[in-house]
Amino acid sequence: MSGNPFRYGRAADVLVDRIDELARVVRVGEECGTLFLIGPRRFGKTSILRAAEAKLTDAGRVVLRYDAEAFDDIGSLAAALLAGAVRKYSSALDRAQAIAKKFFVALKPSLTLDPSDGKITVAVGVEPGARLGAVPLFTDVLNGIERLAAEDGRPALVVVDEFQQVVTEAGEKAERQIRAAVQRHRAVGYVFAGSSSRMMTEMVATSNRAFWQLGDQMHLGPIPRPAFGDFLRKGFESVGATIAIGALEHILDLGEDVPYNVQQLANECWVLITDNRRRHLTATLVDEALGRVVSMQHVSYLQRWLLLARAQKQTLRIVSEEPIGFELSAAAFRHGLPRTTMQRALEALERQHFLRQDLGGTAATWRFEDPFMRAWLATLENQ
Ligand SMILES: Nc1ncnc2c1ncn2[C@@H]1O[C@H](COP(=O)(O)OP(=O)(O)O)[C@@H](O)[C@H]1O
Ligand SMILES: [Mg+2]
Repeated sequence: MSGNPFRYGRAADVLVDRIDELARVVRVGEECGTLFLIGPRRFGKTSILRAAEAKLTDAGRVVLRYDAEAFDDIGSLAAALLAGAVRKYSSALDRAQAIAKKFFVALKPSLTLDPSDGKITVAVGVEPGARLGAVPLFTDVLNGIERLAAEDGRPALVVVDEFQQVVTEAGEKAERQIRAAVQRHRAVGYVFAGSSSRMMTEMVATSNRAFWQLGDQMHLGPIPRPAFGDFLRKGFESVGATIAIGALEHILDLGEDVPYNVQQLANECWVLITDNRRRHLTATLVDEALGRVVSMQHVSYLQRWLLLARAQKQTLRIVSEEPIGFELSAAAFRHGLPRTTMQRALEALERQHFLRQDLGGTAATWRFEDPFMRAWLATLENQ
C-alpha cells in the first residue's frame, strides 16, 4: 500500500489545478518580467513557485528563490541571495571567486569550499547586522546579479517569497530603492510573492507607492472545487474506499476551501479509513477526523489563545460564531462590544495570523487563517 496521498505542511509535490498560475510564473522567468503573486497563507503560493522553479531549472535557467521570513533581517536575505547567485553561476571555486570579485566586490564576499560535499559557501564581508545599510546591500546584490546574468548570457529569475516582510522591516524607502534597481534590470526577472493581502495590495495598487505599475499582479484564490473534489475522490478510491454523497463537499466546507486545511483533513480521513478498515467515507467520518485534527492541535491553539487580550478573545469568538461576511457594527453591538474596540482587536488578530481579511468584495470580510480554529473554539467552554 502506498502512503497517504494527502500532504500538507510543505510545498505540494502534486499541484491540483493552478495550471495558468504556474504557466504565468514560468513565463515571467522566461521573459525576465516582474510579477506580484498575492494570496493568503496556506493557499499554495510557495507550491506554485517551487513548481515554476523546477520547470525553469529543467530548461537550463537560473532561479534564485528565497523566503524573506526565513531570515533575521534583510542583510541576511541579501547575503543568501548573493551566495546563491555565485553558486549557481559558477562550477568551480576559482570561477566562483572570480565572479564574486567581479560582480559583488563592494560586498567583500569571501568564499570557502566545503571538502566534504564540494559545496561553495559564500560569506558577505559587510556586516549584515548593520541595519542601516541593509537595503542598499540588498539592491547592490540585485545589481550584481543583473551584471552577472547579462555577462553570463543566462538570465536569472529572482523569487522573493513573503516579500511583505522586507517592506515591513525596511519601510517605504526600501520600496523605492528596490524599485529603482528592479526597473533597470533586463537580464533578471522578478516574482515578489506575499501573503499579507492588504499590505501587498496597497503596495502595488496605491499610486503614490513606489511599486505601482512596476509589474503585473496575480491574485491567488482557492482551488476550484471540481478539481479539488476530483483529486480527493481519486485519493480515497485508490485505497478502495466508497464515498457517500456530500462527504467530499463536507471536507471542502470544513476546510473553507483553504488548500492546506483541505489536505490536512483529507489526510486524517484517509488514516481513519486505512487504519480501521472502514471502507466508506461519510460526513460523520469527516467530522470524526476533524475532531482528531483539532485535538492534536489543542496545545498549540491553546498556547496562542492564552496570549490574547480579553477583547481579542471575545472578538475571535464573535468571528467564529457569526456567519462569514458579518457586518462589523451590528455584530459588535449584538455582542455588547464597542465597535472601535472590536476593530482594534480584529487588526491585532490579523497581525498575529489568527484572522485574515478577504478584500475581494466591496466590504472586507474577516476570515480565519486556519478555519479549524472555529471547531477548536467550539470545544472551549464559554467563559
Ligand atoms: N495546488 C495545490 N494542490 C494541492 N494542494 C495544495 C496546492 N497548493 C497548496 N496545497 C496545500 O496547501 C499547503 C500549503 O501550501 P503552500 O504552497 O505552502 O501555501 P502558501 O505558500 O500560500 O502559504 C500545501 O502543503 C498543500 O497541502
Ligand atoms: Mg509560502
